[in-house]
Amino acid sequence: MELSSRLKLIKPSATMVVNEKATALKLKGVDLIDFGAGEPDFDTPESIKNAAEAAMRAGQTKYTPVGGTDALKTAIIAKLKRDNGLDYAKNEVLASCGGKHSLFVAFQALFGNGDEVIVPAPFWVSYPDMLLLAGAKARIVSTKEENEFKLTPGDLEAAFTPSTRAIILNSPSNPAGVAYDEGELSALLDVIAKRDCLIISDDVYEKMVYGDFKLGQVLRLRPDLRGRTLICNSVSKTYAMTGWRIGYSAGPAALIKAMTTLQGQMTSNPSSVAQAGAAQALGGPQDSVPLMMGEFAKRRDFVVDRLRKIPGVRCPKPQGAFYVFPNIDAHLNPSKGLKTGDDLAGYLIEEAHVAVVGGTDFGYPGHIRISYATSMHNLERGLDRIEQALRKLGNA
Ligand SMILES: Cc1ncc(COP(=O)(O)O)c(C=O)c1O
Repeated sequence: MELSSRLKLIKPSATMVVNEKATALKLKGVDLIDFGAGEPDFDTPESIKNAAEAAMRAGQTKYTPVGGTDALKTAIIAKLKRDNGLDYAKNEVLASCGGKHSLFVAFQALFGNGDEVIVPAPFWVSYPDMLLLAGAKARIVSTKEENEFKLTPGDLEAAFTPSTRAIILNSPSNPAGVAYDEGELSALLDVIAKRDCLIISDDVYEKMVYGDFKLGQVLRLRPDLRGRTLICNSVSKTYAMTGWRIGYSAGPAALIKAMTTLQGQMTSNPSSVAQAGAAQALGGPQDSVPLMMGEFAKRRDFVVDRLRKIPGVRCPKPQGAFYVFPNIDAHLNPSKGLKTGDDLAGYLIEEAHVAVVGGTDFGYPGHIRISYATSMHNLERGLDRIEQALRKLGNA
């Protein structure tokens, strides 16, 4: 079968590959501990489910406007005001089929052949491939583990080329939970402000920060950049709604209009029933979020502590999201077929029946990503198994 040349540019998402392996082993009856998941293990709050059910029963089962129902747009606008202090109008927001779709539609609407987009590493696996599908290229900018994987103004300054069209900021980030405070983000925005460059702010983990950390927000700090900033967000992570597939974007009216046109020829509206759930999630009680984060905080502390006790493992403490991204370089051994974190992930799933994701597709082959979106019981058992398996290798 001759496939489109576009397909030659991309590969299956690394996290999906791990999910498939893990599912296959579970089906065989293996007691697999899954640290691969990119989704909260909590259930969607009842009030959200009830709102979706009520919408379905009330006959909201037809097409809606492409960019979302009036109720969802109203809820998005109110959320942006309440949480971010931003004023947006209905023609400046668009609901899509998940945050991934929001970003995909944005990239298709904005970028074309020869365009470069600055992507700080480690990065979410999908950015480079989604950019390639738009004809553009990610300009990956490395950050240093010693600097908690934070981009510095100097690194950023050096990354610009005449082809730079945009930068993707993802704070807190997947996979390292890197979050920029106001001072750090301000310094980056000062560099960006001097250039002719768009900002794509991927805020899907915005609510997932720990303790009293004060997260920097692009447009709170620099309202003057509103005309060249697109915010992409999603209800997936914050409200444990990954399966519902609702994301949203907020940006300049002309861009939102172009994205809506594109989406109209692509998926049309996101699911009407899921939109009703998302409107309730954004507009209803927010108490499920701190409850979930309280649990994640305990797990983060436990996982970081355990990993730091394993010889040859280094692990910065993430400031947000629900992943850790430890350095396992000392455990690699090419003569035993362990060249990268991906090989080590393969070893861990076979030997220890623990699924983690190798770091290569996040831009750091000497690392693995561990999601702690699973029970404390599983974390204890899984970390015991990882420790044993690494000790068995005898490399560190
Ligand atoms: C950084 C980042 N952005 C966007 C998404 C997309 O999330 P969704 O499509 O479920 O809303 C994810 C999901 O893993 C992510 O990690």
